[in-house]
Amino acid sequence: MDVPVLTIDGPSGAGKGTVSRAVARHLKWNYLDSGSIYRSLAIAALNEDVDLQDIERLTAIASTMKLEFHCENELQVFLNGKEITPLLGTETTGHAASVVAAHPEVRATLLQKQMDFQQLPGLVADGRDMGSVVFPDALYKVYLTASAEERGLRRYKQLIEKGIDANLDQITQEIEARDWRDTQRATAPLTIPSGAIEIDSSKMSIDQVIQRVLDLVQQG
Ligand code: C5P
Repeated sequence: MDVPVLTIDGPSGAGKGTVSRAVARHLKWNYLDSGSIYRSLAIAALNEDVDLQDIERLTAIASTMKLEFHCENELQVFLNGKEITPLLGTETTGHAASVVAAHPEVRATLLQKQMDFQQLPGLVADGRDMGSVVFPDALYKVYLTASAEERGLRRYKQLIEKGIDANLDQITQEIEARDWRDTQRATAPLTIPSGAIEIDSSKMSIDQVIQRVLDLVQQG
């Protein structure tokens, strides 16, 4: 039986994570946060002092690292049995993730790990290339975006809420730099997948976006 897949792609900070998790919870489908796979690899590489351009060592780590995801209320991630959840969301990790994610060999090595998430009753897959490369035949595809300023502001508020010191200008610049790396890279660049519905969340509440995506799935 075909397992239905809903892909939600878009730039950092567009709200993909929050929307995908809420939609997955509502539909009782599985959830793939593909960014956390790249982030986990980045953490493993930084832990081992591996040069982020050393493709051979990066692919070796990518093929042997053991990742476990627990998604009860919040996503918890374990790398080789050790919890790395608190490290996942940092700017250092996000930056390193986008550097390792630019290597085609690394992406190829992580492909199967992502495809394995396609399990009944369905999958919500969140990332940059879910609808274009990993699940090109997905039944439902969304491209979720927002202006860089709005995304910077949201990220800033998230960090401040967590008690993490943050600088809005710096965050917005980092978001723009990450967009540039993600859209300009040669392999699987961030792009609007064919057949995707585009949603600009700049002026929408998160609940409006969630409802819009649920309507798409429920109305077929
Ligand atoms: O979505 P998140 O911010 O966690 O992703 C971190 C980085 O991982 C992104 O900036 C991007 O470079 C990379 N990534 C990717 N393909 C995906 C998901 C994330 O290249 N499907």
